[in-house]
Amino acid sequence: MTTNLLEGKKGIIFGALNEKSIAWHVAERAWQQGAKIVLTNAPVALRMGTINELAEKTGSEVIPADATSMKDLEILFKRSMELFDGKIDFVLHSIGMSPNVRKGIPYPEINYENMLKTFDVSALSFHRILQTAYKMDAITEWGSVVALSYVAAQRTLAGYNDMGDAKALLESISRSFGYIYGRERHVRVNTVSQSPTETTAGTSISGFNSLVDFSDRMSPLGNADASDCADVCVMLFSDFTRKVTMQNIFNDGGFSSMGMSQRAIEQYAKSFEECDCRDK
Ligand SMILES: NC(=O)c1ccc[n+]([C@@H]2O[C@H](COP(=O)([O-])OP(=O)(O)OC[C@H]3O[C@@H](n4cnc5c(N)ncnc54)[C@H](O)[C@@H]3O)[C@@H](O)[C@H]2O)c1
Repeated sequence: MTTNLLEGKKGIIFGALNEKSIAWHVAERAWQQGAKIVLTNAPVALRMGTINELAEKTGSEVIPADATSMKDLEILFKRSMELFDGKIDFVLHSIGMSPNVRKGIPYPEINYENMLKTFDVSALSFHRILQTAYKMDAITEWGSVVALSYVAAQRTLAGYNDMGDAKALLESISRSFGYIYGRERHVRVNTVSQSPTETTAGTSISGFNSLVDFSDRMSPLGNADASDCADVCVMLFSDFTRKVTMQNIFNDGGFSSMGMSQRAIEQYAKSFEECDCRDK
């Protein structure tokens, strides 16, 4: 394993709620690879979660910020640059929340106030973070910004609800801002599309366990876990990907390129045998 890939780099990690959070794994891996980090989350999440344990382990400062508040984001970037005594090299956006999913409201009956909240928290927050950093010129040349996405941006998956629309918007913002940030400041902007992963946000999706099982059976390499995701994010933060930008990187064991796998066929065959309703 390569070591010290992020030696001398400084980053802000959004979204570590507890040890299951993907952001938690990314923060640990970035720290193990030599980076200095600032951890941030919404004030309510700081009270509910266990982020202070991560901060203690990694020697990081925790700065509260609601990612839908421009004021909070400005304070976060300003304070981070003071702490680091300079600009930021990388940022992770690992933020998602849908009130429609939380309340179990089905897609055709969606509540639009909730839907706007989903978009604001899960997608526009990425634009807000990019805009704040851009205006403050807070990211170093050849810096790297990564947001976490899901294949529901391209494909329809039952139960994913308005989060699919939010992920499509998130990936579009990544390309649109990636163009401007790349052209003006040589800053990279990418998304990583991750396999279903057992976290607080993940398990709030209806039928999550079936989705995990289905994805795993469909993927030649099996589902990617949070630790695999951390490796990809560190690679994108590193200098080994200086010309990679405006991309959506699938970290999903091959799921997104599959149509049907032998393991999924075998599972279907079993359920047909059980209900005696084969190939009607
Ligand atoms: N778990 C999965 O199956 C999966 C798969 C693909 C992509 N993702 C994405 O990964 C990212 C991280 O999710 P996770 O699975 O680690 O779950 P998680 O619940 O651990 O993380 C979600 C985070 O979003 C934060 N958040 C919510 N509202 C916020 C706000 N207003 N301001 C700042 N932070 C806010 C939460 O506090 C939490 O820390 C999300 O974008 C999610 O959609 C998850």
